[in-house]
Amino acid sequence: MKVDLDKGLLKSLLIFGAIIEARDAYTGGHVWRVAQYAERIAKSSGLSEQQVFKAFLGGLIHDIGKVAVPDSILNKPGKLTDDEYEIMRAHPVTGRKILISHPLAPLVLDAIGHHHERVDGHGYPEKIPEANLSMPALIVSIADAFDAMTSTRPYRAGMEAAKAIYILQKNRSSQFDERFVDVLVGLFDTDKLNGVIGHSDESRPMLSCPACGPIITVPRHKEAGDTVHCHSCKAEFELHKDNDFFDIEFTKNKLLTATPEIDVEQIEAMAERAPKQIEL
Ligand SMILES: [Fe+2]
Repeated sequence: MKVDLDKGLLKSLLIFGAIIEARDAYTGGHVWRVAQYAERIAKSSGLSEQQVFKAFLGGLIHDIGKVAVPDSILNKPGKLTDDEYEIMRAHPVTGRKILISHPLAPLVLDAIGHHHERVDGHGYPEKIPEANLSMPALIVSIADAFDAMTSTRPYRAGMEAAKAIYILQKNRSSQFDERFVDVLVGLFDTDKLNGVIGHSDESRPMLSCPACGPIITVPRHKEAGDTVHCHSCKAEFELHKDNDFFDIEFTKNKLLTATPEIDVEQIEAMAERAPKQIEL
């Protein structure tokens, strides 16, 4: 059923992406990057505008279930116990339960519920084989894995993109869909992922808190002279800009009430370029 895409409803969905982001300061920009990779894979695969948008949206919302995973597990610096792993692995099912009654849920439920399935049927939570996995789930799974490997975590530095590409290729046809892996490799080889790898938004390279390490994302409306805060240690920094490069300088202030900012401009921009109509 093709329906007019209600911008207000769409924005409410996009805000879920910002909520996921706010939970995890260490992977600042993760959902934006996954959405970008997913969109580029879908576009380069020749899919329709609607399908490309579904891949993008799936990338943005896929980890919504992680809001129910305790911080102690989500940010644990080290191996999870069996019980903790079980709680973590529940996030695709939890995510579906959270969004199931949203009027636009059909656009994202597959990406949420199936992004940890594997094409060989050994993934979780349902061990669904490739034949029964839909495009958004297959693409988001690859985009998510690529960003997880190339992003810095509290307990390990991000991997070189070329090595992550090698690992994806090694696991094509067992964990990941062959065709979509090949498309991502093509994008990487032709430098079409520049501006996404190592970024938290368009023209916003990732910055790391010099005091404690997590990523400080720079919202679209922030420019040189504005202040930004580390969501982890709450330190305040003044933003400097030199051409395309941002830098931050500690202002010697800490704002204990500093909370992650929802990047309203980013959400507006995403909603603006959505298709006018979509198949639900
Ligand atoms: Fe996930």
